[in-house]
Amino acid sequence: MSEVIQAPSVRRVVVLGAGTMGQGIAQVTAQAGYVTHLYDVDAARIGRAIESIKQATDRLVQKGKMLNEARSELIGALVPTPDLAQACKDVDLVIESAPEQMELKVGLLREVKALAPERAILGTNTSSLSITEIGTRTAAAARTIGLHFFNPPPVMELLEVVRGLGTDEGVVATSLAIAKRIGKTPIVVNDMPGFATSRLGVVIGAEAMRMLESGVASAEDIDRAMELGYRHPMGPLKLTDLVGLDVRLMILEHLHREIGEQFRPPAILRQMVRAGRLGKKSGEGFYRWTESGPVPIAHKR
Ligand code: CAA
Repeated sequence: MSEVIQAPSVRRVVVLGAGTMGQGIAQVTAQAGYVTHLYDVDAARIGRAIESIKQATDRLVQKGKMLNEARSELIGALVPTPDLAQACKDVDLVIESAPEQMELKVGLLREVKALAPERAILGTNTSSLSITEIGTRTAAAARTIGLHFFNPPPVMELLEVVRGLGTDEGVVATSLAIAKRIGKTPIVVNDMPGFATSRLGVVIGAEAMRMLESGVASAEDIDRAMELGYRHPMGPLKLTDLVGLDVRLMILEHLHREIGEQFRPPAILRQMVRAGRLGKKSGEGFYRWTESGPVPIAHKR
């Protein structure tokens, strides 16, 4: 690769994918002052994401947590870009945030590699997939790195920086500096399935689902147990709704293949995904999501 780009030279960012995570990540990078191109194959989704960012930041201004000028700068730094070539032109940092499927991510990053400058860091916001595999199959291992954000990205402090086998140490260093600039606390993790976060997080979520299946308690009481008994900010089933049941299923399927039986996806999760009950984003998961928050629902056993 050409010389590794240093953090102060990073100016333009492209976020690939305007789903829940891509939208939040774009808000974070735009707020840090990066010119942020937001790309999605579905142009309408880009429009909806920008609208949600406007609403979320408007609420922050109303609550006195953001200055109006800062909000205007943030919105001004966001560039909806439905054309991939245009989005990648002269970009310094790519943050791919497409669905958690290896073929999709590799396909997209191969295209991006052909369109972006050689200096660009190719970050992928994967929850569990191999950075080494993505880097190798993109033929850009040295500049491929995992940049794992947490939902909701504007609020969650952690950035998990995942080093693939071929990732250049300079790329790790630049990523750590960018993490700090966007107000995150980074940890560096080696490329093992599920990294340091998802591997633990999905176990609790999956076990909570199995407990619901076997009738240990209601969804709300399983959640309340962890909220009040363990001080988790949100119980595991509510959190699964927030993350997306489809996302959790893809992570579990991958870890089941890679690590073993303890990650076998619970039957209830598969059924709910088949039924389109994907959690907050679809309006229903383990809870029904209303304007005023999650409402308990009865689950058939
Ligand atoms: N931009 C900026 N700030 C925002 C925001 C946005 N888009 N949305 C919410 N906020 C702020 C609010 O202004 C609020 O700030 P104050 O506390 O200062 O008032 C704060 O975030 C909390 O928001 P709410 O009051 O609406 O809600 P809450 O207090 O119930 O907290 C929560 C919500 C932050 C999500 C909290 O319940 C929580 O931390 N839950 C756990 C989340 C978690 O574990 N995420 C990781 C999931 S795993 C993952 O994402 C990885 C993966 O690979 C799948």
